[in-house]
Amino acid sequence: MTYWLNPIFYEFIKFRVLLFIKGFKRVQQNKIFIGSILFASFFLQCYECSDEYFGIPILLNGKKEREIMKSGLSKALVTGGAGFIGSHLVDTLVKEGCDVVVLDDLSAGSLSNLKHVKDKITFYKGNIQDQKILMKAAENCEVIFHQAALVSVTKTVDNPVDSAFINDLGTLLVLDAGRKNKVKRVVFASSSAVYGDDPLLPKHESMQPKPMSPYAVQKLTGELYAHIYYDLYGIETVCLRYFNVYGPRQDASSPYSGVISIFMAKAVSKKPSLIYGDGKQYRDFVFVKDVVKANLLAATAEDAAGQTFNIGTGKHVSINTLWDMICLLSGLNIKPEYAPPRPGDIIESVASIEQAKSALGFKPDYSFEKGLEITFKWYKDSRK
Ligand code: UD1
Repeated sequence: MTYWLNPIFYEFIKFRVLLFIKGFKRVQQNKIFIGSILFASFFLQCYECSDEYFGIPILLNGKKEREIMKSGLSKALVTGGAGFIGSHLVDTLVKEGCDVVVLDDLSAGSLSNLKHVKDKITFYKGNIQDQKILMKAAENCEVIFHQAALVSVTKTVDNPVDSAFINDLGTLLVLDAGRKNKVKRVVFASSSAVYGDDPLLPKHESMQPKPMSPYAVQKLTGELYAHIYYDLYGIETVCLRYFNVYGPRQDASSPYSGVISIFMAKAVSKKPSLIYGDGKQYRDFVFVKDVVKANLLAATAEDAAGQTFNIGTGKHVSINTLWDMICLLSGLNIKPEYAPPRPGDIIESVASIEQAKSALGFKPDYSFEKGLEITFKWYKDSRK
C-alpha cells in the first residue's frame, strides 16, 4: 500500500504549495484539497478491487503502476530461466516489478525466450555446478526458483551418471548457494515421476515414492536435500511435483522433448505422430502459466515451507486422445504411427491437487482445451 500512498500524498502537498503560490485563499485551498482527497479515496477503492487498475498507467518512482509487484518479491534468481518453464516465470516476475537474475547454461534453454525482457533482467550464462557463478547469481536474492535440470526421463536412462551431476549435485549446490547467501526460500521444481507406477490414483503427496528411472531418483533426491536444508539450516524450501507441463516455448526439436511439443510440431508440418505403446497411457497435462502461478504461491505462502505439493490439474488425457484433439485443432485427419513402449515410461499419471489448493490456494486457470489452443497458435505462428 505504501508503494502508491506516499507518492500520492507527496503530490497533494506539492499541489497545495502550488495553489498557495498562485494566490488561492486558504478556504479555497482547503475546498480543493478535500475535493481531491474524496476523488483519490474513490479512485483508490476502485484500485483495491481491480487487478487491471482500469487500464490507467500511473507513474510511480519511474515505474508504471501495473508493474508494481503483487507477490511482493524484491529479488529472485531463476535457474534455468532461459528454458521453457523458467522463461515464463521470468516474464511474470519482471511484470510484477521483481528484480530478476537468470542463471542458464543455454544447453536446453535459449536467449530467444528472454529477448523481450533482456534489458530488465541480469543474465548469467553458466552452469549450476559452477559454484562461483552460482554464488554471484544468488547474491541478495530473497527467493531462488530452481528450474534448471535435465528434464528428459529417457536421457537420464541413457546417461544416469551425467544427468546426476546436473539434477542431483546441481540441486545440492543451488540449495547451498541459497544457504550461504541467506536466501529466504528456495522453490524446487520436482516431478510427478517420483511416484512411478503406483496403481493408486490420483497420486497423492503422502504416497510412498516408487521411482522407475534415474530421473525420478534424482528428483526425489533433490526433494530430500530440500527437506534437510529446511530442517538443518532453516532455509525455507518448497518442492513442487510438476505433472506434465506444456505450453508455448517448449522445445520440440528432440525426440526427448515433451509429447505435446512434439505432436504440435508434427501437426504444424502435417506429419503423423509416433505413439510409444498403445497410446492408452495417460498424463495430467498442466499449462505453463498455471505452473508459474504455483511457483509464485509457493514462494510466498506462509505455511508452505518444508512441504511438497503436486502441481497438476487433477484431470487426465490419454496420448491417443491428445493426438485426436491436436488433429481437430489443426484441421488434420492423420492416423498416428505406433512404436514399442519406452523403457521407464509410466502408464497412468494424474494428480491430487488438494494439498496445493488448501496450503497454497492453487487452482489452475487454464482448461486443457484453452491451453492447447494457445499452444497450437504459438507453434503455428513460430513456424512462419
Ligand atoms: C514428463 C517430463 C518430465 C516430467 C514428467 C512429469 C518432458 C520431456 N518430460 O515426462 O520432465 O518430470 O513429465 O510427469 O517434458 N510419447 C509418445 N510419443 C512421443 C513422445 C512421447 O507417445 O513422440 C509418450 C511417452 O511414451 C509417454 C507420454 O507420451 O508415455 C509422455 O511423454 P513425455 O512428454 O516425454 O513425458 P514424461 O515421460 O511423462
